Amino acid sequence: MFLLRLLLISLVLVPPARWAADTVPGYAVASAHPLATRAGLDLLAQGGNAFDAAIAVAATLAVVEPQGSGLGGGGFWLLHRQSDGRDIMLDGRERAPLAARRDLYATAAQSIDGALAAAIPGLPAVLVQLARDYGKLPLAASLAPAIHHARAGFPVGARYVKALTDRLTALDASPAARAIFHPGTTLPLPGDVLIQIDLAQTLERLAAEGFAGFYGGETARKLVRGVRAAGGIWQMEDLTAYRVVERQPLRGHYRGLAITTVAPPSAGGVGLIEMLNILSAYDLTGVPLPARRHLVVEAMRRAYHDREQYLGDPDFVGIPLLRLLSPNYAAGLRSTLRLDRVTPSDGFSQTTGPEPDGANTSHYSILDSAGNRVAATLSINYGFGSGFVAPGTGVLLNDEMDDFATRPGTPNVYGLIGGEPNAIAAGKRMLSSMTPTFVESADATAIMGTPGGSRIVTMLLLAVLDFADGHGPASWVGLPRFHHQYLPDVIEYEPGSLSDPDLRDLQQRGHRLKPLAAAYGDFHAILWNRKSRTLEAASDPRGEGLALVQIKPPAQ
Ligand code: DON
Repeated sequence: MFLLRLLLISLVLVPPARWAADTVPGYAVASAHPLATRAGLDLLAQGGNAFDAAIAVAATLAVVEPQGSGLGGGGFWLLHRQSDGRDIMLDGRERAPLAARRDLYATAAQSIDGALAAAIPGLPAVLVQLARDYGKLPLAASLAPAIHHARAGFPVGARYVKALTDRLTALDASPAARAIFHPGTTLPLPGDVLIQIDLAQTLERLAAEGFAGFYGGETARKLVRGVRAAGGIWQMEDLTAYRVVERQPLRGHYRGLAITTVAPPSAGGVGLIEMLNILSAYDLTGVPLPARRHLVVEAMRRAYHDREQYLGDPDFVGIPLLRLLSPNYAAGLRSTLRLDRVTPSDGFSQTTGPEPDGANTSHYSILDSAGNRVAATLSINYGFGSGFVAPGTGVLLNDEMDDFATRPGTPNVYGLIGGEPNAIAAGKRMLSSMTPTFVESADATAIMGTPGGSRIVTMLLLAVLDFADGHGPASWVGLPRFHHQYLPDVIEYEPGSLSDPDLRDLQQRGHRLKPLAAAYGDFHAILWNRKSRTLEAASDPRGEGLALVQIKPPAQ
């Protein structure tokens, strides 16, 4: 009922439009904030392509959804360039500072709150690279909407206020953060206007000077000085040495669907393909729901186990990728699966951290009328990142260092217990769950993704299975969600997402179940159907996002 009500209120599903065969009938943007979606659409209307729009959306989210992502963070951008048919992964993941060592953190809080928790940002470098190598418009044009919203201000929403309330202690410990986000003695209310002059100036330096406007000069000096004064370990060299890495995306197949997704240092793509490979031997569409849930959970358990064993930064550790992605390997995992009983994950403690609710991190999807595509998931990790702003920059720094296995055997904020391949090292990228993905059937192309910490990958799995069942974006974003991540050995589920008979059946098979207090995720998806010549986009009813489709008038 809860989901249905939200669906009616905030789902934006654009009715199909007619167009000529094999051309995109228009363009579409779906993101976590209406101002970011409109910024992307405006760039496309001005003649920019999907990559220009991707800059506008990311930069605008940095201003209007500061709790989720921003210049102080990083992420993964999955691109499809129509002109040469190439798929490219831009790895703008943060790196550990060069002075970082594996035992950097004595306590859990140190990798979550304050300047020591911050890794070197990648997002500004991605924006520069997108403009230089992929876009059609100058960087300054694509950054203009974000600069406008930072200077003129915008009314904050309920999600912002909730995230702020949750992270008040960390924000109040940073005088520059406090001055921006929590001035005075009372909390902001939804509708209050947030103005960010320092951030506007930092964006202007980026627009004017590109890479050197953030990773050098005044911004870099203020960042390093601010971080060090607050107990952090950044040096100028950390910033000047930062590079985006262009990687080959991963490919997989599931019952007639082709999956293009992100490679390590995201664990998401490997996990998604592994789960789909395990499940591909069953005709799930015909399997009764309770048994289907059991199979899906057992696939989740096995993929998350491998994540812990094998995955880390591919530039630092050897990953048996070919094996993990091979259908034969999945067949081996499938042979350990019992249809009637759980396969318990034993051995580790079963502690969880605070629950991610999807208000942190951000995903957006873009399709332009030439057929270029962007799926991007970006993050400063926890709500408002580390809560730390270097004075004079307006940039909230991330606490992505907590995505490393900071202390062996101890779960991070998403309850993930990392393994040796994900230990901290100087200049290393921390493992991620972010999974921006393209899915193609014979007739249609989908662009999808979501925030949600460790639950991101299982949300993608449920959406791909729903696509395989013949459903579209409106269904994917609203799907009731459940999740298993090997440890803790428990199925977590959203309120109302599993029926009583489902719950009883799963218990009889030996599963432990944990109802969550709140819904999670903020899924944004686009579907272009070449056969029916339709374009659809949808934003998660759980969030405050907006999906818009613009249909171009047919040429005479
Ligand atoms: O990279 C990761 O996996 C995390 N930093 C993502 C965090 C996240 O999605 C929080 N969302 N609620």
